[in-house]
Amino acid sequence: MKFLTVLPALCVLLFRAGGIKAEDQAYNFDEDNIDLEDEDKASYETRCWGELGCFDNSIGDRLPSEPDSIPPNYLLFPHDTGIKMSWEDTVDDLRNKTIGRFDEERRLIFLTHGFGESLGKQWIWNLRNATFKAYPNSNVVIIDWGKGAYLPLYNRAAANVPMIANMTMRLTSKLMSIYPTIKAENIYFIGFSLGAQMAGYFARTFTNQTGTKIGRITSLDAAAPNFHSLNIAPRRGDADFVEAIHTSAGDNIITGKVGYVPPYADIDFYPNGGIKQPGCPFFHLPCSHQRAFVYLTHALEDLAGCQFRGVRCATVEEANKENCTGPAVDAHIGQVDLEKFTRLDDDYHIVYLKTTSKSPFCTVED
Ligand SMILES: *[C@@H]1O[C@H](CO)[C@@H](O)[C@H](O)[C@H]1NC(C)=O
Ligand SMILES: *[C@@H]1O[C@H](CO)[C@@H](O)[C@H](O)[C@H]1NC(C)=O
Ligand SMILES: *[C@@H]1O[C@H](CO)[C@@H](O)[C@H](O)[C@H]1NC(C)=O
Ligand SMILES: *[C@@H]1O[C@H](CO)[C@@H](O)[C@H](O)[C@H]1NC(C)=O
Ligand SMILES: *[C@@H]1O[C@H](CO)[C@@H](O)[C@H](O)[C@H]1NC(C)=O
Repeated sequence: MKFLTVLPALCVLLFRAGGIKAEDQAYNFDEDNIDLEDEDKASYETRCWGELGCFDNSIGDRLPSEPDSIPPNYLLFPHDTGIKMSWEDTVDDLRNKTIGRFDEERRLIFLTHGFGESLGKQWIWNLRNATFKAYPNSNVVIIDWGKGAYLPLYNRAAANVPMIANMTMRLTSKLMSIYPTIKAENIYFIGFSLGAQMAGYFARTFTNQTGTKIGRITSLDAAAPNFHSLNIAPRRGDADFVEAIHTSAGDNIITGKVGYVPPYADIDFYPNGGIKQPGCPFFHLPCSHQRAFVYLTHALEDLAGCQFRGVRCATVEEANKENCTGPAVDAHIGQVDLEKFTRLDDDYHIVYLKTTSKSPFCTVED
């Protein structure tokens, strides 16, 4: 079990040692080398794929894969075992599949995974159920982009993120043409790791095409490798409300610290300092990273009535050192009712909170 979880990192090591082709090379740790000047950007390689538009190789020096080779599956719940949709479905196909099974007055919530994952991961089903608990009767769509995200090629998965986001936008436009009363503010996107980066791409494409913003992004430890160096994150302003949970801040796959370090959202939670999570065994590298979805799932389930609340920090360094002295923040991870949250100023809302090392992780309040 432990060996399996170290495997991805080992693969990365082996691939580096083997001196494989540039296009399939694993994550390049030397950030300075991929910090590109403007004139370099002009020389990016670009390729266009019909209605999906044009993509360049700015992310990890790779173009996205052929669209036909990475078709994501979209599963619409709560009905049955999920209604399977494709971004290539025609409006007629989609209407026939979803008619009477899609509630356009309710939220449309996308959930997606990260690198090396697919629907085989139990956590996504747990999060789906928790999402229904917090948002009853919503239309939840799980995006399974496993074909675009498989191990061990991190650069390949990262380069596919904007393309899958674009496909998701194509699907969303068709749903909105069938159900014209879908409100942009009712569209949420919850993504883990590379899936969190996808949330940002989706939201920005949505705004580009509709002139309105989606309601909410929940960024679960957004992936830093290949994105931090380009300053790309699901940012405050990409949606009406952007929340971020930082649990493994760093920029290094080998050590399992792959989360985007600086704050970027409307509210940035740094549980236990945001770098390493309590109860994570040393050899289980992805454990701290994965705690991001574990905390959100528990928060949405509101197990035992406990909530993930914290105090305000002046800087991210203060948060990392677990040395925050700011006032208690009246918003918690996964908060459904946002009326209580008003940004007090233009600074980032950096929030430190403590968790326990075991499920349900939150500290129970009196
Ligand atoms: C994304 O999709 C739209 C069409 O839905 C297209 O106009 C746009 O160019 C696409 N590509 C990118 C890279 O944004
Ligand atoms: C959708 O359903 C209608 C009515 O049952 C049918 O006539 C039509 O061929 C279907 N369209 C597609 C694309 O399946
Ligand atoms: C999710 O909820 C459904 C319906 O209540 C239940 O059958 C299923 O076992 C739950 N799955 C998980 C992973 O909790
Ligand atoms: C939408 O995206 C295109 C292509 O990236 C860009 O040229 C255009 O200015 C954008 N439009 C808006 C309204 O942001
Ligand atoms: C913690 O914060 C206080 C007050 O901001 C500061 O004086 C102290 O040096 C900090 N401690 C550490 C370990 O950074």
